[in-house]
Amino acid sequence: MKKTAIKKIGVLCSGGDGPGMNAAVRAVVRSALSYGVKVEGIMRGYQGLIENDLIELTRRSVSGIIGRGGTILKTARSPEFRTDKGQAKAVATLKKHKIDALVVVGGDGSYLGAASLFEKWDIPTVGLPGTIDNDLYGTDQTIGCNTAINTALDAIDKIRDTAHSMERIFIVEVMGNHSGYIAMEVALGSGAEDVLIPEIKPDYKVMCDRIVKGSKQGKISWIIVVSEGVVKAEVLAQTINNMTGLETRSVVLGHVQRGGNPCALDRTLATKLGVAAVEELLKGNYGSAIGVLQNKINIVPLAQARKRPYDLYQEGYRLMDMLR
Ligand code: F6P
Repeated sequence: MKKTAIKKIGVLCSGGDGPGMNAAVRAVVRSALSYGVKVEGIMRGYQGLIENDLIELTRRSVSGIIGRGGTILKTARSPEFRTDKGQAKAVATLKKHKIDALVVVGGDGSYLGAASLFEKWDIPTVGLPGTIDNDLYGTDQTIGCNTAINTALDAIDKIRDTAHSMERIFIVEVMGNHSGYIAMEVALGSGAEDVLIPEIKPDYKVMCDRIVKGSKQGKISWIIVVSEGVVKAEVLAQTINNMTGLETRSVVLGHVQRGGNPCALDRTLATKLGVAAVEELLKGNYGSAIGVLQNKINIVPLAQARKRPYDLYQEGYRLMDMLR
């Protein structure tokens, strides 16, 4: 694709929101304006692009948002954008507003849409990793993941108090979609006794034998972290109760993990990535997903940046075996 002089860029958030998306939007807006480039904010992700729902963003529009959860641009999942017809409408909106390039903040599905805009419709597009799941190639961390882990840890510390006082087993279900990354980090960080992740088939017998053995040795409480999709927390609680005879409760943390003020890591990550997105577009580096690897900005083609399998779980289990 030939390089275009970029006078105006669009920015949108897409898919599940994550803490730090606002910090990314702020960094995109203010860095673009510093380079003399105007910015349009697209509301509700690709759906807002289809429906021509845009607002011009100034320095003032993004003041005070760096520490706020959610996204001021709102976000959505847009089935219509998966069709050629939907994409044609989105492209028409970009042309209508003379938007030369687009920054998409989102996860796997959003990157797929961004790659389509670049490859099929010749729109200069870059992607920023905005998802709590941390499941994208080309970046050590995605925006929102660390805050989500902290939120889960905060909740589990509280659950541990009641688990210990009432001598119970607690099953805590966390998000992560098809990735066990959040679950394993949360299990390690909370000192949980066990973790179930989608990458590994659960062995309930081994888990329950361990619980019964621990109980005979005087252990009185357990936290078992389960990644969504492996088994419902409530069902697992019943299974464990049936197999061990010990009182078991379940808690689904759910969307609580997506909210709240972004932690330091997510704010700085989003800020560095937001500026890098604008600078890469100005360099003519289109069709890229921008991440951070070992503390350095890392660029990979959007088409390659999609779903990263979680492959560090063996090390996670090794540590848990020693520490439980
Ligand atoms: O991708 C982020 C995420 O929070 C996943 O962890 C979860 O599976 C999904 O989104 C939930 O999506 P929704 O908010 O549409 O229910």
